[in-house]
Amino acid sequence: MTLPQRVRLVEVGPRDGLQNEARPLSVEDKIRLVDDLADAGLSFIEVGSFVSPKWVPQMAGSADVFAGIQRKDGVTYSALTPNLRGFEDALAVGVKEVAVFAAASEAFSQRNINCSISESLDRFLPIMEAARLHGMPVRGYVSCVLGCPYEGHVAPKQVAAVARELFSMGCYEVSLGDTIGTGTPGATRALIDAVAAFIPRGKLAGHFHDTYGQALANIYASLLEGLHVFDSSVAGLGGCPYAKGATGNVATEDVLYLLNGLGIDTGVDLERLIRAGQRISDVLGRANGSRVATARLSG
Ligand code: HMG
Ligand code: MG
Repeated sequence: MTLPQRVRLVEVGPRDGLQNEARPLSVEDKIRLVDDLADAGLSFIEVGSFVSPKWVPQMAGSADVFAGIQRKDGVTYSALTPNLRGFEDALAVGVKEVAVFAAASEAFSQRNINCSISESLDRFLPIMEAARLHGMPVRGYVSCVLGCPYEGHVAPKQVAAVARELFSMGCYEVSLGDTIGTGTPGATRALIDAVAAFIPRGKLAGHFHDTYGQALANIYASLLEGLHVFDSSVAGLGGCPYAKGATGNVATEDVLYLLNGLGIDTGVDLERLIRAGQRISDVLGRANGSRVATARLSG
């Protein structure tokens, strides 16, 4: 398989990253982060989520964040919505694209969204219907594609079944989430092979948390398998509130460095991205989770 000429980076730091940062962040700081990321050239930013504030308090201000960001032409600002209530709240603040999220493991589905996998898929149907009426694209996520914090091994065919449901209900792209970051390149390739029996590879995205330090290797393996969309978090922010011990997504700076080295275009400016990542790390009082940023800034 030849490598793609261009990759789309889906920046999930303001959502996946910040949803699990211990220190609460002001709405102003969140807005600044999103604007900085757009200024660095990212064309797809997941800004927040419209979920229960009792479940994920860090995302409580998402409506205010959407109201405050400067929406640039050519940039998609999306939101995570678990049910119709979340979709309607997102619509009310002018969100133009949403994502629904299911899991490949029953135990994770219960802990994350308090229902079974099939109940979660049923909940998405009215979202899909409402989104169609408003001409809004919907992205789909599958969690625990390479392992579950509660069930351990997850069979690729189980992932493929859930991904297929999301795709056939109208998700234009399905992002495969290694929620706990235990996947390795061989398992990643086998997973993509299994899912690609039902969904074209060009409609799949890779979403790798970096808990075991395998994310970049998994991205390279995914590139070889024909994927060209990857989710990442600036400065490696975050984790998952329902996956104990999971670290953040792979750092966007590190993915960009990998892709730059392969001559793959993303439209993102590494230096500006590093500045955005360091700024938010300073505000949060945490170490920068990007190896590339840490190396560049220590010079
Ligand atoms: P539930 O308790 O079963 O729902 O939660 P409910 O319908 O019984 O409602 C309970 C309360 O929540 C009610 O309020 C509702 O009004 C309220 P109360 O009467 O108790 O005051 N509620 C809402 N409030 C705001 N926005 C809403 C909403 N819906 C209900 N949309 C629910 C079910 C899905 C709401 C809950 O479990 C939830 O919000 N879960 C969110 C979990 C989450 O955000 N997880 C992190 C994102 S997923 C992830 O990180 C993985 C990913 O990155 C990929 C990967 O890495 O694998 C995507
Ligand atoms: Mg995630």
